[in-house]
Amino acid sequence: MKILVTGGAGYIGSHVIRALKVAGHEPIALDDLTSGKQVRLGDTPLVQIDLASPGATEVLIDAFREYEVSGVIHLAARKSVGESVEKPEYYYQQNLHSVTNLLVAMRAANVMNMVFSSSAATYGSPDVPQVDEDYNCRPINPYGETKLIGEWMMAAANQSWGLRTVSLRYFNVAGAGFEELADTAVANLIPIAFNAIANKKAIQIFGSDWPTPDGSCVRDYIHVQDLADAHISALEYLSQDSREHSVFNVGTGTGSSVLEVIQSIRDVTGLEFEVDLVPRRPGDPAALSADVSRIEKTLGWKAKHTLDDIVSSHYRAISKQPL
Ligand code: UFG
Repeated sequence: MKILVTGGAGYIGSHVIRALKVAGHEPIALDDLTSGKQVRLGDTPLVQIDLASPGATEVLIDAFREYEVSGVIHLAARKSVGESVEKPEYYYQQNLHSVTNLLVAMRAANVMNMVFSSSAATYGSPDVPQVDEDYNCRPINPYGETKLIGEWMMAAANQSWGLRTVSLRYFNVAGAGFEELADTAVANLIPIAFNAIANKKAIQIFGSDWPTPDGSCVRDYIHVQDLADAHISALEYLSQDSREHSVFNVGTGTGSSVLEVIQSIRDVTGLEFEVDLVPRRPGDPAALSADVSRIEKTLGWKAKHTLDDIVSSHYRAISKQPL
């Protein structure tokens, strides 16, 4: 299938493009290149546009026709939780206008398959350590709200005009499937930790008094390559039949604490570094891990990589980045 990947020049999008090629599909990237990098795309065609901009629908319809697109994987979004609290209107504008423009163009051009990149941020701060997809979502920041509303838009398009669509709720994505596709953004724990080590600074641990076994926050870290493969499984699922919109958690089902991530960094790299126990970060849930029964049973997908695989692949990839 010819698949348009929005956010295709990003860290996750570029892994999805590689996975599509391996599976025999023909990806086309769409990206505004504000945080994406063209070098990640190789010979993949690029449509360069801000998907949330007023003229995007016409550009999309032309691109769908030119490339004979039959499905979309929609990753392009602003995704910094903290920034979304500072600039909620910007997050609503960027993350929801883009979905609206896409759906208008897809309906006009009769593109009927869509995988929507959602997030565990839709759950908010659940009172269970492992969440399944039927848990009542109560996001606690505008970023999570935009992702939940995006899911509702998928469901509405499914009911109204038969769009075949699934939403994938990503948990904590990290690691690198290819050295040249590293996460260079320094926005999440593992890249932040390696950046601190490189700059001979202490790694800050946000809170050591959480109600968790070792007092630090627990998250479900998923290797980006496993996540990319989940998109291929989702596409296969969509192509089988007309279905209702479905939602799948994409995680490992195993939670790791911040201290366990730090230990993995020590084990994998053998590097010496300091850590600093600092106060809790506002808005963090104590523990958030995925119940992965639905995706394993329905899509036949299962994460293959461990936390050590994630940490070592990130370490190898950033060691190869140009200074
Ligand atoms: N943390 C630290 N020190 C740091 C950075 C993070 O202790 O310097 C801790 C956080 O408190 C948290 C954990 O490491 O407990 C992971 O934090 P991240 O900022 O890497 O990720 P979040 O869990 O806050 O959020 C990530 C994505 C969201 C997504 C969410 C889904 O950034 O987009 O996972 O679980 F919604």
